Amino acid sequence: MFGKGARERSFAAAYQASVPGVAPLSLVSVPGCFCHRRTDEGGLALAETVAKALRETEGEQPLKFLDMGCGNGIVGFLAAAAARPRRLELVMVDSHSRAVEAAEMNSRALGIEAEIILADNGTPRRMDGTFDIFAGNPPYYSEYRIAGLFCETAQRALKPGGHAYFVCKNAAGLEPVVAEYFPEIEILRRRGYAILHARAAAARNMV
Ligand SMILES: C[S@@+](CC[C@H](N)C(=O)[O-])C[C@H]1O[C@@H](n2cnc3c(N)ncnc32)[C@H](O)[C@@H]1O
Repeated sequence: MFGKGARERSFAAAYQASVPGVAPLSLVSVPGCFCHRRTDEGGLALAETVAKALRETEGEQPLKFLDMGCGNGIVGFLAAAAARPRRLELVMVDSHSRAVEAAEMNSRALGIEAEIILADNGTPRRMDGTFDIFAGNPPYYSEYRIAGLFCETAQRALKPGGHAYFVCKNAAGLEPVVAEYFPEIEILRRRGYAILHARAAAARNMV
């Protein structure tokens, strides 16, 4: 039945995603990975916000960028494309193996290098205060517990003065969660979403 010549069906889907000023990227998704077959408007709002901030940032040194809950990698890959010629040292993390698989496929196909990690227990241990930028589009079930985990990871990952961006529909729900980790929050609006921007404290208690 599955003898010689039988074809394996692929359920992967391809679509294009872009941010202003950057040529569209062709991305692949697979079933079970967020966002399959289409761009998530929240993810795109986050990518656009981060891309704009990167283009307005001066300097030539590579920037360390953590894309948590990367899905197929849309936010990190669009950010890396927007940052050029500056290089982003991309680290992507997801708790779903299908997302990691899709992000790896996209990294290879786009030629954008990234370290892609399957989260063990939700919080990768190497989040060590060396990142310049954190971006997350967390799931909002579980009464913000996973969003809280994203915030905690951002706080540990970022270097003093580093930037964290979280996207959500309901800023009033997420703001108190982010405020547990970051004292000052700026709320930006895009595509009907809120992007909460916060900065890591200049001098942190490193306990
Ligand atoms: C709303 S999707 C965002 C995907 C992609 N960044 C985008 O914007 O299209 C949230 C992602 O977070 C991942 N996720 C959920 N819990 C996680 C955890 N504890 N650690 C890392 N990723 C997690 C999910 O698997 C999913 O891919």
